[in-house]
Amino acid sequence: MPTLLITGASRGLGLEFVRQYTADGWNVIAACRQPAQADKLQALIAKYKTIRAETLDVARPNSINALAERLKDAAVDVLINNAGVFSGGSFSGSATKVDHGQKFGTINPEEWDKVLRINTIAPILMIQAFVPHLLKGQERKAVNITSRMGSIEEMGADYIAYRTSKAALNAAMRTIAHDLKEQKITVINLHPGWVKTDMGGPEAPLDAENSITGMRKVIAGLTPKDSSRFLGYDGKTIPW
Ligand SMILES: NC(=O)c1ccc[n+]([C@@H]2O[C@H](COP(=O)([O-])OP(=O)(O)OC[C@H]3O[C@@H](n4cnc5c(N)ncnc54)[C@H](OP(=O)(O)O)[C@@H]3O)[C@@H](O)[C@H]2O)c1
Repeated sequence: MPTLLITGASRGLGLEFVRQYTADGWNVIAACRQPAQADKLQALIAKYKTIRAETLDVARPNSINALAERLKDAAVDVLINNAGVFSGGSFSGSATKVDHGQKFGTINPEEWDKVLRINTIAPILMIQAFVPHLLKGQERKAVNITSRMGSIEEMGADYIAYRTSKAALNAAMRTIAHDLKEQKITVINLHPGWVKTDMGGPEAPLDAENSITGMRKVIAGLTPKDSSRFLGYDGKTIPW
């Protein structure tokens, strides 16, 4: 069976990706900061032998490189860069309550640095480190969980750190898609919808199960021709 490597597997969308791919028979390498403390992930591991938990803090390049080294003999069919931060609270809280230094007039550069490191730079370093593993796999797909909030065409007010981190992620992946074309690695930016998780908050209209079911369908249907696209969980193209 194919192998998935996913970041941010402890909760939210990452955990649901693990659940669905595992139930479908895939081998899943579930990477997160503190696997032993991730109770819901541990409950899945107790049920399925096909999940391998790995420690990974995507904010630390050494942690990414150490994981690539530990997995050096493994083939990865699909890499999902899912780990992400919003910078304080959930989206459905009011902007002034949760917008930690992200609102024009109150910009906090340290907070912005942190968001960029996790949401933008880490996925690039992950792909860079895992090209050899993807080349050993059959599917050769690198999927980046981005956000419609990073669409420049649709850009609204507030959440500057989060919005720019995802816009930059989208731009970087469009570039990397060119670098990886010859190796036939398909790179895409995928928006999950607004989903009920710790980040999405309770007011979100979608639940994780439906979002992940949609995204898995999109991922399964990807071909090299799709590389560098910005797609929603429903498969529709999102404007840059
Ligand atoms: N929910 C939505 O409505 C929505 C909409 C658009 C895009 N997204 C994107 O979807 C992805 C998943 O979001 P979610 O809703 O599932 O959020 P979530 O419930 O807040 O989960 C975030 C995940 O990222 C992990 N993470 C954060 N910093 C990390 C780091 N330095 N190293 C490793 N893992 C780290 C967390 O791990 P810990 O448990 O260790 O903190 C957790 O597993 C994110 O990229 C987010 O931007 C979500």
